[in-house]
Amino acid sequence: MLRFTVYLCMLWLLFADTVSSEDISGCEQQPCQNGGVCESHNGGFRCLCASQSQNGQLYGGQNCTVALTGCNENQCENGGVCSPLFVNDHHSYTCICPAGFTSPKCQTPTVFSFESRGYVYIQTPLLDQEAPLNVTFSFRTEQLVGTLLQRRVDDLLFSIELMHGHLCLLSLRGQGSSTLVQELPGYLSDSKWHTVEASLGGVVSLIRLLCTEGSCTRESNAEVQLLEQASSLPEPEAVRHSLFIGAISGNWTLGRAVEEADYPPAFLGCFRDVFVDSRLLLPVIAPEGSHIQSNITVGCSDKDKCDDSPCQNRGRCVSQGWRGYLCECHRPYEGNNCAEEYITARFGNKDLESYAVFSLDDDPGDTVIISMFIRTRQSSGLLLIMTNTTSQYLRLWLEAGMIKVQVNNFETLVGRAVINDGHFHLVTLKLEGVVATLFQSAQSQGFIPIRLIQVHPGDMVYVGGLPDSRASASFGGYFKGCIQDLRINNKRLQFYPISTPVESYNLEQLISVAEGCSSDNACAVNPCLNGGVCYSMWDDFICNCPPNTAGRRCEEVKWCELSPCPAAAMCQPLSQGFECLSNVTFRLGSSIPQYRSNGKIKRSLTSVSLSFRSRRLAATLLHARKDSNYLTVSLLNSHVVMDLQVGGDKDNVSIQSQTQFSDGKWHTVKLSLETQASTSSWIMVVDGGKEAISMPKTAVGDLEFLSKEADIFLGGLSLNAGVDLSGCLGPVEIGGLLLPFHPDTELNLPRPQEEQFLRINSNAPLLYGCWGASVCTPNPCRNEGVCEDLFDLHQCTCSSEWTGHLCQDSTDPCISGPCLYGNCVSLPGGYKCACEQGYSGEQCEVEVDMCEKSNCSHGATCLKGFQTYSCLCPQNMTGQYCELPRLPVSTCTGTRWNYSCFNGGSCSEADDACYCLPGFAGQWYDMHNDS
Ligand SMILES: *[C@@H]1O[C@H](CO)[C@@H](O)[C@H](O)[C@H]1NC(C)=O
Ligand SMILES: *[C@@H]1O[C@H](CO)[C@@H](O)[C@H](O)[C@H]1NC(C)=O
Ligand SMILES: *[C@@H]1O[C@H](CO)[C@@H](O)[C@H](O)[C@H]1NC(C)=O
Ligand SMILES: *[C@@H]1O[C@H](CO)[C@@H](O)[C@H](O)[C@H]1NC(C)=O
Ligand SMILES: *[C@@H]1O[C@H](CO)[C@@H](O)[C@H](O)[C@H]1NC(C)=O
Ligand SMILES: *[C@@H]1O[C@H](CO)[C@@H](O)[C@H](O)[C@H]1NC(C)=O
Repeated sequence: MLRFTVYLCMLWLLFADTVSSEDISGCEQQPCQNGGVCESHNGGFRCLCASQSQNGQLYGGQNCTVALTGCNENQCENGGVCSPLFVNDHHSYTCICPAGFTSPKCQTPTVFSFESRGYVYIQTPLLDQEAPLNVTFSFRTEQLVGTLLQRRVDDLLFSIELMHGHLCLLSLRGQGSSTLVQELPGYLSDSKWHTVEASLGGVVSLIRLLCTEGSCTRESNAEVQLLEQASSLPEPEAVRHSLFIGAISGNWTLGRAVEEADYPPAFLGCFRDVFVDSRLLLPVIAPEGSHIQSNITVGCSDKDKCDDSPCQNRGRCVSQGWRGYLCECHRPYEGNNCAEEYITARFGNKDLESYAVFSLDDDPGDTVIISMFIRTRQSSGLLLIMTNTTSQYLRLWLEAGMIKVQVNNFETLVGRAVINDGHFHLVTLKLEGVVATLFQSAQSQGFIPIRLIQVHPGDMVYVGGLPDSRASASFGGYFKGCIQDLRINNKRLQFYPISTPVESYNLEQLISVAEGCSSDNACAVNPCLNGGVCYSMWDDFICNCPPNTAGRRCEEVKWCELSPCPAAAMCQPLSQGFECLSNVTFRLGSSIPQYRSNGKIKRSLTSVSLSFRSRRLAATLLHARKDSNYLTVSLLNSHVVMDLQVGGDKDNVSIQSQTQFSDGKWHTVKLSLETQASTSSWIMVVDGGKEAISMPKTAVGDLEFLSKEADIFLGGLSLNAGVDLSGCLGPVEIGGLLLPFHPDTELNLPRPQEEQFLRINSNAPLLYGCWGASVCTPNPCRNEGVCEDLFDLHQCTCSSEWTGHLCQDSTDPCISGPCLYGNCVSLPGGYKCACEQGYSGEQCEVEVDMCEKSNCSHGATCLKGFQTYSCLCPQNMTGQYCELPRLPVSTCTGTRWNYSCFNGGSCSEADDACYCLPGFAGQWYDMHNDS
């Protein structure tokens, strides 16, 4: 048995050792030290030592002189207050525990809590049946209701309950109804601790609020006794009296549980310091299977339950007061923790005709919101019909993969987005008064005005189809796919009920609907062709195609990758086969290929296309004939001409290109029948340019006769007439079908396509490729001119410096030396002469007159010279350009003769010479006669 004793001593009452009694007192001598108060005691004195510390120290002992050291190392846990003791010359301590803790060092919590419905059973020794049971406890909660305590004595049940936050004492006898005995006035659901004393089962039963957190003083009990734990929960009938903390249901509550599942209301909150007849209830883990307690948690956590993320499937957790929470679940999840999912209903499993029928048992009101998750790969099918006895007033079905809604047989609304992609889609239809709005996920798909619909109890809801399969067929037939979490407003239409109780309309019929959302085995029918491997997906399949095949079912063979064509030909893939394209050369003596339809051509033949090259002014490119119908495409005077006669003469069509095409180059001709309004005309396009168009007529013949037994010839009018084309033909197509040059015997694989033209005279050899005379090898063009083969004729394309038929002529203008007196410089598109001095003109052919711009001045005469000139000065002038005045002449009388000094020179008579001015020199004599 757990039992311990707590000594609680008043701090200010530290009893000293008892003093011997012979003395009168002794207080006169003031024996008490350290603030101790002396009082006489049994003829002696005793010291009441100060409860306040003196200089940080408490004192005890006879004269309050002993420093108390019992608490020097604080021994108390959980905030307990240590109080030192000095007993029998021995230091010790005691702990004064805060509320919620007990034991010598306050290490044992007394707090426990109910985080969900729970209880603790307490076995009460009933010594005296008439004696009341005394229970004190503290509690805290935020809940407005809850049963804190249930006490039963025989068929009398007392319960202490919170009602609207007020603590009430109720009593109940037998199967009767409960009586409110007492209600405390205060509001206690404020999450504070409240301490209550209850006296139950005596003459008077009552409850009393002792104190509230903050105002409670800890009373000093010398000793705390613990309640003995019961070993097991006895049968209700076997016990005459019982006590429960918390709420237990079942027979312990005197039969009330039979009527109300939630009775009594659970208390969610905390308890501490529960004393039953002065014995303390300690929260402990009960032995397994004993049922003496349930759902109790030691301690009182303030942690938000939502911090533990209790809501699954992305449900939103909302805190609900003390340790309470609520999960707001996303559809299709349900339940307290959103752990449960609505069970999906599979319609059309294995293509069965399936449907479900619900009946309405209430009036959903003016606003009707129908919503459900849909998963399907079908583009059509009936989803839901609401009907009363006279009309189907609401229909929802799938059309072209989209939701279609019809209200009252009249107004229809179609969704904008396709939903048959094999994923779940939330579809919501809101009928609000006179407006119907369709949503997919949260997106509005549009709305329509409607006439008010009236939904009444007894109306039926058909899901997935109607009992009558013909009636279902008019809405796309039975639905194939899955529906989950169907609701009308907030009431469910459950195909398979889930365990969480939810409000649901009644399921009347469930025909061939399966649980879950299993997939049909789409591979069971081997949908993959050409050796493709099938993989199942939900209601669908994927083909893993072997190489050389493609398409959803590997139905497209990549024929060309099988190299079916002869080396010279080019393989062209078709959606259902291939063709070998090549060119063919026609010359005098060549065979004429002849063709016929294989009799399986279904398409209408409204076009002819071919490519050719020829320098013949007139030649047959294609000719086809059956009876009086014929088609000819030919060259006439270099123009491309089409002649067509279908039916009578009056329907003859003849058109001719404007441009001439017999230039030996490749040209592509496209003839097509185009219909506008009620008239048609043939259009000729050559090399992409529109060349001719026939008169629009109401009845223009197409080429249908070619798909019968018409004979088709290329390069001539008939086998007998022989070839009249000299040149080449490229691929020829009629109505998009090739006239193959290579017979099937030359192919590595037969052509698989259904519609074909066949070469009749497949043994007549053709010259594949386009071979004219070898006119470009060796290259006849000189000076790196490029040779173009124009079928038996070449054409040189010269570089810019060369010209002429064979590029033999230079285009450099300087080569001919055009500049007579100067240098030639080539320029783009011409030349320029840089003339020598003395010449000008474009070709420097003009001699420049040097005197034209001479510098001769002062009326000098210019004398022309070769590339130069000189000036003849007048008498009084001199210098190169006669720019200087002639200086005076001195007449000197020398010793030997007389002479003159020119240009300002002066006489030096002694030596018969002149002194020249600077710039002049020479000895110019002019002899004078002495006489
Ligand atoms: C207490 O004081 C008394 C009187 O002054 C003295 O006789 C006695 O010895 C003291 N006791 C102690 C333990 O000091
Ligand atoms: C204990 O709590 C759980 C979870 O809330 C509850 O389902 C169960 O009924 C409770 N036990 C008792 C005896 O009330
Ligand atoms: C509860 O009591 C009823 C009669 O009052 C009895 O029939 C039933 O078996 C009891 N249930 C339990 C679980 O003891
Ligand atoms: C009831 O018990 C409490 C705690 O044990 C005690 O303080 C109180 O005096 C008791 N009351 C009666 C009336 O016995
Ligand atoms: C059936 O519904 C239609 C359309 O809401 C309504 O006009 C008709 O009166 C209803 N019939 C019955 C019998 O309720
Ligand atoms: C036919 O000739 C044209 C023009 O030279 C050329 O582009 C084409 O590749 C040739 N076709 C075949 C199958 O050789």
